[in-house]
Amino acid sequence: MAYETIIVEVEDHVCTIKLNRPDALNALNSHLLGELGDALTDADQNDKVRCIIITGSTKAFAAGADIKEMSEKSYVDMFLSDFFGREGETICRTRKPIIAAVAGYALGGGCELAMMCDFIIAADTAKFGQPEINLGVMPGLGGTQRLTRFVGKSKAMEMNLTGRFMDADEAERSGLVSRVVPAKTLMEEARAAADKIAEKSMLTTIAVKEAVNRAYETTLSEGLLYERRLFHSLFATDDQKEGMAAFTEKRSAQFRDR
Ligand code: CAA
Repeated sequence: MAYETIIVEVEDHVCTIKLNRPDALNALNSHLLGELGDALTDADQNDKVRCIIITGSTKAFAAGADIKEMSEKSYVDMFLSDFFGREGETICRTRKPIIAAVAGYALGGGCELAMMCDFIIAADTAKFGQPEINLGVMPGLGGTQRLTRFVGKSKAMEMNLTGRFMDADEAERSGLVSRVVPAKTLMEEARAAADKIAEKSMLTTIAVKEAVNRAYETTLSEGLLYERRLFHSLFATDDQKEGMAAFTEKRSAQFRDR
């Protein structure tokens, strides 16, 4: 499908989606988020794709929701259209693993989009922030909720209240990103992680994603039970037999998603 605000490439088993509004530092407008949702839905339905990478440019992953698109909207416009509600849900409904490869600014909705992905690999140039407060608003795509779960109340509160940016090292120390890599190797590293994930049984990658996400959405005892039941269910699969046989026979497993 031809898109205007994103570039989508499927190579081997990895779908890479590059946000592409360079003149606006990849600001997220309705059109871009709609296209991103469509591309993620397509990737989820494409049997060839086993892992997804979302990235931006070297200067900006995304500098937030598009301020120019929002500036004249009224409360009624925002409320009745449930602004970005549907788009956010479409992104979060993606079942296959999504890696955010972040260089440069990931601010406001950009930071929130990165947090909707399953993990973030950051270039050493990355800067994260929730500067909505400087615009007389507040985050609307998870900045007060996901950021607090990732980095704790004190830092989330400070970032949301002051609008200050966090550099890549601080983001790694705080648990926001899984690791920091030199900017010039960002896509190579993200791709290597995606290739590793693509080698696994998709039954297990989807189950792991669902189970880890439960850790944010339910109590510990419910989450542990959910995890254990999923773990049990994987013993109904050929891939469990293959994975364990391969270990015993000292060879690589050949998973078939069955
Ligand atoms: N929306 C619309 N356009 C944006 C934008 C945004 N969020 N961020 C940058 N741009 C545009 C600029 O207007 C500029 O366009 P023009 O050349 O037409 O003027 C272009 O991108 C380049 O930006 P700058 O000249 O500002 O670049 P810089 O290097 O001097 O500064 C920056 C970079 C610090 C990221 C700065 O652009 C900035 O502060 N951007 C806004 C960040 C922000 O406030 N984000 C939160 C948005 S609200 C939100 O996200 C709500 C939510 O939770 C859903």
